[in-house]
Amino acid sequence: SWTSESFVETTVRELREKIGDDKVVLGLSGGVDSTVAAVLLHRAIGENLHCIFVDSGLLRKNEFESVLDSYKGMGLNVKGVKAGDKFLGDLAGVTDPEAKRKIIGRDFVEVFNAEAQQLADVKWLAQGTIYPDVVESASVNGPAAKIKSHHNVGGLPEHMHLKVVEPLRLLFKDEVRRVGRSLGIGEELIGRHPFPGPGLAIRILGEITPERVEILQNVDKIYIDALREHGLYDQVWQAGVILLPVKSVGVMGDERTYESCVALRAVASTDGMTADWVHLPYEFLARVSNDIINKVRGVNRVVYDISSKPPATIEWE
Ligand code: XMP
Repeated sequence: SWTSESFVETTVRELREKIGDDKVVLGLSGGVDSTVAAVLLHRAIGENLHCIFVDSGLLRKNEFESVLDSYKGMGLNVKGVKAGDKFLGDLAGVTDPEAKRKIIGRDFVEVFNAEAQQLADVKWLAQGTIYPDVVESASVNGPAAKIKSHHNVGGLPEHMHLKVVEPLRLLFKDEVRRVGRSLGIGEELIGRHPFPGPGLAIRILGEITPERVEILQNVDKIYIDALREHGLYDQVWQAGVILLPVKSVGVMGDERTYESCVALRAVASTDGMTADWVHLPYEFLARVSNDIINKVRGVNRVVYDISSKPPATIEWE
């Protein structure tokens, strides 16, 4: 029967045989899959694994720095690349969800390639693709199918002639987490909720501006921190906040306000293909809502998304 220990042992051996003394490049995202793939490869080939972690400017608050620190702590050979200005510049004025994904996918490829090309004699591109990605990429619709293109070799320069290695290709998410634990990766990384490749861009409905990114980062932090503090984070498969493209009227003191509205989302799922909205306690929602409205300027209304998938999707774009 399948155990994570035997998977690690076999895979490390196979990776060594396959890769030998070649250099490998891998894009880290801060998520579970690419992290587990990196640590597995690092165990197999050590310093010949070169990781690139791109800051799109669309990550959660402080995420780039904190994740980069934990990668370094794990001994990974990782280069962090700050490219937020490029992404936000290219996204300025764009509101169509598919157009956002295309721009972000293209920017990721460009930034990643520019870095990868600076590494001499790289022979392989490693990816944290897992089984559901393989299945979803094969389907014609679904947002995931489209963005996975940013992990795609199709976007890499031909002259690099990279061969692809995907050590997690046959695993489901829970198996990836088990493998990660047996590799000694900390629970703060293993237990992380899934987060979409295009990041907060697809949770900012309408136009993406630096100000709106900051508002969403601040709201998201209050919500996610509160889930952790109340012991709810691990009971939820994925949670996040959506910044809506509507303003509504409110009052503050004697003043009338006209500000943004955010939607909180929390779902239970096993693979993201179907999902139920989570019945978070009213007490919890009340406190988070108060906190958000009191602390984040520009937001005067909070709603909770009570839609399940299908027919709703987990993300709003
Ligand atoms: P949906 O919104 O389709 O999301 O129900 C299912 C899961 O996939 C994630 N998701 C994405 N992941 N690129 C990604 O890498 C994307 O474009 C994308 N869109 C959705 C979503 O966060 C959820 O976990």
